[in-house]
Amino acid sequence: MKIIIDTDPGQDDALTILLALASPEIELLGVTTVAGNVRVAQTTENALKTLDLVGRTDIPVYAGAERPLIRPGVTATHVHGKTGFEGVDLPPPSRPVSSGHAVDFIIRTVMENPPGTITLCTIGPLTNIALALAKEAALRERIGQIVMMSCAFSEVGNITPAAEFNIYVDPHAARMVFDSGIRLVVFPLDVTHQLHTSKARLERIEAIPNRVGPVVAAWLRFEKRFEATKYGTDGGPLHDPNTVLWLLKPELYRGRQVNVEIETDSALTLGMSVVDWWGITEKKKNALFMREVDADGVYDLVVERLSVL
Ligand code: RIB
Ligand code: CA
Repeated sequence: MKIIIDTDPGQDDALTILLALASPEIELLGVTTVAGNVRVAQTTENALKTLDLVGRTDIPVYAGAERPLIRPGVTATHVHGKTGFEGVDLPPPSRPVSSGHAVDFIIRTVMENPPGTITLCTIGPLTNIALALAKEAALRERIGQIVMMSCAFSEVGNITPAAEFNIYVDPHAARMVFDSGIRLVVFPLDVTHQLHTSKARLERIEAIPNRVGPVVAAWLRFEKRFEATKYGTDGGPLHDPNTVLWLLKPELYRGRQVNVEIETDSALTLGMSVVDWWGITEKKKNALFMREVDADGVYDLVVERLSVL
């Protein structure tokens, strides 16, 4: 399965990239970066460092949008630290970012491959995807699916009381994607909050006898300190990796095809994902929205895959 990961690393983003690289079922064609957790120059550097960690300098990294379509930029340094990558000191990138824009790489890759064969795995704000759809309308028919970490239903919001971060940063881009008609598979906070990075789980990851295990444990320990305090839990929610983990083992998750719309006007609920879980409206069921997950199965798969790197 051929995928592009569009991302704003972010420690949990980096784990997602590593899981893709650890899995022979997946051919990672490239990584595209976007402004989100931190500004795009930093998310790009963090993506390059992630690939260096496992010697995969063959995977191209293309820098993308520096800011949302309409809204002013919002970052999450309070969660991820100033660089977006706190927890481990990694050497500077071994190579420069690939030349060319992320949006053009996405368009070129989708248009050069047979229709329906490319999966976009989006784990940050959707600005690059919206720009690609605006630039090349044919993508609507050619992208196979977009598998995304975003949204919330019963968990509601994390960056505001109403909105999840990846949507809130660029709600207008999100609305374009949810209105596109492309097959969407959504991993919301409802799923991620069932997957706490508990002390026992982090110790299991840390004990993986390679370079990656201790690095991933340190990343998650740092990233989750804020959420563990906020929610009063043993560890924090595991967000982005669910996208790749579903591609590898879909049976770990259960959801429902429903209508999801994004609030782009209200100051109070801007970025809210309005999920018609009970089919109250006749609106188009535009997304496979996940809400159940086998948490132990997820962490078994994380450890199994990280162990081969
Ligand atoms: O709301 C969680 C999302 O925000 C994740 O993608 C995490 O990396 C942050 O970007
Ligand atoms: Ca992210």
